[in-house]
Amino acid sequence: MGIEPATHSTILRAAEALRDGKLVAFPTETVYGLGADATNADAVARVFEMKGRPRFNPLIVHLPDLDAAKAHAAFNAAAEKLAVAFWPGPLTLVLPKHKDSAICDLVSAGLETIAVRVPKHAVAQELMREAACPIAAPSANKAGHISPTTAEHVENDLGDGPEIILDGGFSSLGLESTVVDLSGEEPLLLRPGAISREKIENLLGAGLGQATENDAPASPGQLNSHYAPHAKVRLEANSVEPGEALLAFGDEVPQTEGPVINLSPDGNLREAAIHFFAALRELDASGCKTIAVMHIPNAGLGEAINDRLRRAAAPRGE
Ligand code: TXA
Ligand code: MG
Repeated sequence: MGIEPATHSTILRAAEALRDGKLVAFPTETVYGLGADATNADAVARVFEMKGRPRFNPLIVHLPDLDAAKAHAAFNAAAEKLAVAFWPGPLTLVLPKHKDSAICDLVSAGLETIAVRVPKHAVAQELMREAACPIAAPSANKAGHISPTTAEHVENDLGDGPEIILDGGFSSLGLESTVVDLSGEEPLLLRPGAISREKIENLLGAGLGQATENDAPASPGQLNSHYAPHAKVRLEANSVEPGEALLAFGDEVPQTEGPVINLSPDGNLREAAIHFFAALRELDASGCKTIAVMHIPNAGLGEAINDRLRRAAAPRGE
């Protein structure tokens, strides 16, 4: 359908498309986002596919206001203070996810936290209210490309991939939201962005620790901050040893007495992506020493799955 000027009727159409599990590009005051219903794992998997993301970076969940955010994330006093001061606006807070939140595991790449943000842009606001679902949205560009600040940028990168690209004009800030992690003991600046570190520190009355964007899964020393299984992970398994759990893929599964989860008996990589984080968690909870993982092809979402598996299998820092 391509680019459509954002009007009440195109926004209604976009909201309906989101509820139907389709992807919609929409303007925010920072950059354009590629949105999916955050409770629909299949739609979220297609966001990673469409961006060509070689990894599962956790996505930001967009909500219309603080109350809506509180339905999914646990706010402490610091979070409440920042939200009241800067929302709606270009601030993203990483907070513990409520256990009963319907937001799917793939959104936060298996973490127990979620990143929430209340954008200010009028089109984004109307879309969120009409869709009435939390919207997971990374910037609407191909992985590795520059973030889009116009509807044309989105179209250049994603073509007619999104069901609709709502044109709300130029993103006035042109810089992504500042990401602050308040889920741990020390507040951390995960990504510098449109609100300065100083403004946030002044309000908190405390300094922000430093962390780098997309950091944690990269280095084994930081695995504690991203979800990593307690069990060891053994890749490219053709057989299963005693005491191992098996993460299977496809229809030629080796014999085992131990726990098995098959990510996709049909060998479908999107289906595998959808179940991947929950499956790792469940096998880990079985108390096995090692999770043996069958070969997963590196095509499409397989690349992101394999990236995550390599990190999970890397020697641990501690
Ligand atoms: O301005 C923005 O934030 C734009 C617009 C569309 O809202 N969105 C955006 O999303 O930049 P994305 O996916 O490109 O960046 C998400 C950032 C990444 O740095 C990611 O690592 C971090 O948020 N993030 C998301 N969830 C997280 C979590 N649970 N823990 C740590 N970091 C998280
Ligand atoms: Mg981005």
